[in-house]
Amino acid sequence: MEQRDSGAPFQDVMDDHRGLLERLAAIEAESEPERIHEEIRLLIPVLEMHFEREERPGGMFTRVETQDPRQSGEIRALRDEHVALIDTAVSLIERAALTSQQRLPSHDLVSDVHKFTTHLRRHEARENALLTDAHYHEEGGGD
Ligand SMILES: [Fe+2]
Ligand SMILES: [Fe+2]
Repeated sequence: MEQRDSGAPFQDVMDDHRGLLERLAAIEAESEPERIHEEIRLLIPVLEMHFEREERPGGMFTRVETQDPRQSGEIRALRDEHVALIDTAVSLIERAALTSQQRLPSHDLVSDVHKFTTHLRRHEARENALLTDAHYHEEGGGD
């Protein structure tokens, strides 16, 4: 699905989403607490930048909401999820450190990491749906 026209209104966010999906696959491939710790530690600043890009004035949330005010409830829910996702990532780092230091079994940690990546993947899929919709609106109905 190549879509390289420079006029694509939310190309930056779409590109972020592609990059994030690759990171999530890398995180899901890990089972060592030390590796999980490192991957999520690297993920957090990437997520913070990405969420800021979506939330900033004139960014995708405000543009989509301006185009289609019916989406305001969904956008509010997505904003709230940003806070929850960062909180979860921070707590997973702490648990990964503890699991590693105390040499605890990592099964529960790995399972919760997968719940987190599933949540994040669903979050981004909902946004992609919103953006596809918005793109059609901007195109004037998507013939
Ligand atoms: Fe988001
Ligand atoms: Fe996103």
